[in-house]
Amino acid sequence: MSTVDQIKAPVAKEMDEFENKFRESMKSSVPLLDKITHYIVKRKGKQMRPLFVFLSAKLCGEVTESSNRAAALIELLHTATLVHDDVVDDSNERRGFFSVNALWKNKIAVLVGDYLLSRGLLLSVDNKEYRLLQIVSNAVREMSEGELLQIEKARRLDISEEIYFEIIQSKTASLIASCCACGAASVNASEETIKKMYEFGKTVGTAFQIKDDLFDYGTGNGIGKPTGIDIKEKKMTLPLIYALNKSSWSDKRKITNIVKNHNTNPDKVAEVIDYVIKSGGIEYANKKMNEYKDAALKILNTFDKNESRNSLEQLVIYTTERKK
Ligand code: IPE
Ligand code: IPE
Ligand code: MG
Ligand code: MG
Repeated sequence: MSTVDQIKAPVAKEMDEFENKFRESMKSSVPLLDKITHYIVKRKGKQMRPLFVFLSAKLCGEVTESSNRAAALIELLHTATLVHDDVVDDSNERRGFFSVNALWKNKIAVLVGDYLLSRGLLLSVDNKEYRLLQIVSNAVREMSEGELLQIEKARRLDISEEIYFEIIQSKTASLIASCCACGAASVNASEETIKKMYEFGKTVGTAFQIKDDLFDYGTGNGIGKPTGIDIKEKKMTLPLIYALNKSSWSDKRKITNIVKNHNTNPDKVAEVIDYVIKSGGIEYANKKMNEYKDAALKILNTFDKNESRNSLEQLVIYTTERKK
């Protein structure tokens, strides 16, 4: 059994049923939409968010129909944000295949993202899942704010470590936090427990995005070499921020100039990556990621020891050791 299968074990049945439910939740009688959602479902992602929902539910009680709806709602919104993100980032690739905008153009990708969002909203309203809807809507608001903050900072390249954490906690950790909070809420856990699970998700979600940002520098990304895509997008992430903070005035000017004006030149981008590695930016980001990992594990320790807690612990570790 693979590590992921082991992690899934306590909720294997739920994850299996989720597949069908998720496919059903996107169905449309408009042929073009049906074709595109079909394309999306076939190239599914890691489905870490549904796994966070189910394991959190099971940690706090027994999985319910609400837990199933929470998982579908969140994966729908996640998918919608990815379809929109590839338009925003002008990216032609997603999950190793062409992105929706690459195949059908931006106009259609924007509308498909809206459609997925609306299906998520309807799924919760039709079933009167107002608590889940409240938790998730807040995350969607935070995600848009985080993405806009990132764009604003990319323009000026003046991002501090503090702002970096604000960005990743909004754009990524907030949705993972909502997975864990919804999991707890779906089994009628106390408000105190829902809040604790939210904090847990926010903490592991922060580690998740630091890991994602490390992939850009070729660390453990399964390709074995840097992609440099973030630099191309003028996205300043933790390794680079750290390197710039400790660099001399002239180095800082040189590196910032490349990110600003030569970010499409592969040799120049390689120079930045090299500089970041030599400055210890990778080690530093790894250290920070592990601090969040440990903090997440500490929160889990306040729950009784059982199969679900054990799986969540493994999922936290997987988040920081995954290859994709
Ligand atoms: C991608 O999330 C978006 C980020 C927050 C970095 P995932 O890496 O979980 O995406 P999929 O669903 O597995 O493709
Ligand atoms: C992913 O962000 C989208 C959201 C978190 C909303 P990025 O643009 O940083 O991630 P990838 O690399 O495209 O998945
Ligand atoms: Mg992107
Ligand atoms: Mg983006």
